Amino acid sequence: MNPVFSDKTKDLAPSAIREIFKSLTDPEMISFAAGNPSPQSFPVEKMSLISQDIFQNDYVNAFQYSVTEGYTPLRELVKKRLASKFGINYPDDELIITTGGQQGIDLTAKVLCNEHDVVITEDPSFIGALNAFRAYNTRLVGVENEKDGINVEKLEKAIIENPYCKLIYLIPTFQNPSGTTMSLEKRKRVIELANKYDKVILEDNPYGELRFEGEDIPTLKSLDTEDRVIYCSSFSKVLSAGMRMGFICGNKDIIQKVVVVKQVNDVHTNIFFQILAARFIERYGLDEHIAFIRQLYRNKAHLMLDELEKTFDGEIDFTHPQGGLFLWGTMKSGMDSSEFFRKAISEKVAVVDGKTFMPTPGECHSFRLNYSTPSDEQIVEGVRRLYRAYHK
Ligand SMILES: Cc1ncc(COP(=O)(O)O)c(C=O)c1O
Repeated sequence: MNPVFSDKTKDLAPSAIREIFKSLTDPEMISFAAGNPSPQSFPVEKMSLISQDIFQNDYVNAFQYSVTEGYTPLRELVKKRLASKFGINYPDDELIITTGGQQGIDLTAKVLCNEHDVVITEDPSFIGALNAFRAYNTRLVGVENEKDGINVEKLEKAIIENPYCKLIYLIPTFQNPSGTTMSLEKRKRVIELANKYDKVILEDNPYGELRFEGEDIPTLKSLDTEDRVIYCSSFSKVLSAGMRMGFICGNKDIIQKVVVVKQVNDVHTNIFFQILAARFIERYGLDEHIAFIRQLYRNKAHLMLDELEKTFDGEIDFTHPQGGLFLWGTMKSGMDSSEFFRKAISEKVAVVDGKTFMPTPGECHSFRLNYSTPSDEQIVEGVRRLYRAYHK
């Protein structure tokens, strides 16, 4: 049979990153391509104790249908943390639990965007979000992302040139894929532009807890005075990615609409894991665990950057992330990113081709590296292989 796919999905390609996973079956391959948190970041023993307790004492709640908005104690704990750590406390806002941050992005696009509406994103940006926007037949407009975040002059130009822009999607902190963080000045300017041109911003902040260097910068949402920033985030990088737990908060009317479409989508997020996460936070808090993850990634990021700078000696320009999971290399020689990707695979080291993250096709000389999953030995050896690939 030759399936005839819908207009919405016929042009969607599988995520190149998931495809790369398939080519990683070679045991000799060193992967800098993953987007996974380190397995060391999963608090297994504590989770195991709480799980036993839930099975014994709360199994009815854990195995029964639940409400779409999410487990109330967990919602309250998240609200408290957002207020205390991220300055997010808009009185009329609503917060719900989503099935990963990915669902928050997808459902926001679903409730706001019509076909052919424009979504402005950083260029490069997170492939999962780009594909969500593509699935609603929106038109993507990428705006250059610099080392201190999106180019705000170009952002204003893009807004003016695209009157049907419905949404501005931004990852201001430890961006995926580039690892960059938007400066406070730019954040303020972005909010001014959203106010001036009456736009909605979707701020995606799944890495915001993972700062291992420097000072926190206020979230866009905390700078928002007109309730036009929708904020989404995730437990994937702080507790477990497999639990598929995220949250979204913002304007009550928008979030209530998201609840309606979520009901159709998956009824509610896995309730066992919601209870588990709530009990974990009530019993142990998150700070100690997150401090451990930050230390882990600080060491790995420094090791990878030191090796890269020493080895490439300026031939490739690398970003210097102050948190999160990724860094971004741009080849000064102008080598095509797909050519470099193939050469790297032939040297048995995997990176992600920068083209994967482009909102629209074009030239690319960049690639993404992940430091959270490889061992220290793999980081050192993998950088050597990258050097050989670059000079092939
Ligand atoms: C920028 C960004 N947003 C959202 C997500 C989605 O995360 P999850 O659905 O696991 O919560 C990711 C995952 O890698 C991401 O990098």
